[in-house]
Amino acid sequence: CENGAEAVEAWRGLRARREPILVEEALAGWELSILCITDGKSASLFPAARDHKRAYDGDRGPNTGGMGAYAPAPQCTSAIEDEIIERIVEPTLFGLSRESMDYRGFLYFGLMMTEEGPRVLEYNVRLGDPEAEVLLPLLSCDLLDVLAACAEGRLSTGRLPVRAGAAVDVVLASGGYPGPYTTGHAITGLDAVSEEVLVFHGATRREREAWWTSGGRVLHVVALGASVEEAADRAYRSAERIHFDGREMRRDIGRGVR
Ligand code: GLY
Repeated sequence: CENGAEAVEAWRGLRARREPILVEEALAGWELSILCITDGKSASLFPAARDHKRAYDGDRGPNTGGMGAYAPAPQCTSAIEDEIIERIVEPTLFGLSRESMDYRGFLYFGLMMTEEGPRVLEYNVRLGDPEAEVLLPLLSCDLLDVLAACAEGRLSTGRLPVRAGAAVDVVLASGGYPGPYTTGHAITGLDAVSEEVLVFHGATRREREAWWTSGGRVLHVVALGASVEEAADRAYRSAERIHFDGREMRRDIGRGVR
């Protein structure tokens, strides 16, 4: 809720439906995704990423599963990252060990960067989507080696080795998503995307030697570049070559990011 009047209205609606009510502080700021892999003692960090969950440009409209992402997020300076490690990542590892949890795997911190500093919105014990689509292609090491080190308790604290530059993911969604939409539309142009661009299938099916849409977030078009802006240009050039009836995408993922 943006203000007291909205909060009262929400309260009345929930009370009328006899729903349980939990009041939390509304956090204002910008969202940031911090992901790491931990063996329970050490945490190796991926570059900071930004996910765009709203359906329309300018982060407006209904929430979706994510309409695109980019990494590294230049807004997350190394001073900010150090603060996140000290205030959030390390205390989380300490908490896991204090509760004798032998957790080995990915940790996802969904953060709101407020005027008072970083605050945790959510934890996940997995990679994020669409964060994974930009973070994994940026790794300059073999993910299997990292996973083995994690399983065997050999991870070191610090940043995972990554390539120079940035990655951008533009999601192609079905018309109407996240509201009602139709599926079963033929997808064309997949063979026209640039060779260095990666296309991850989110909701497609293969039938009669063709690809068809089968859900809301259909494809992720991911490009690398020297900067977020360059990666975005490459991703959009390829995204424009892929077609299906009702195809929708945000036009501002990674645009104007410096
Ligand atoms: N990008 C948000 C999530 O994976 O939960």
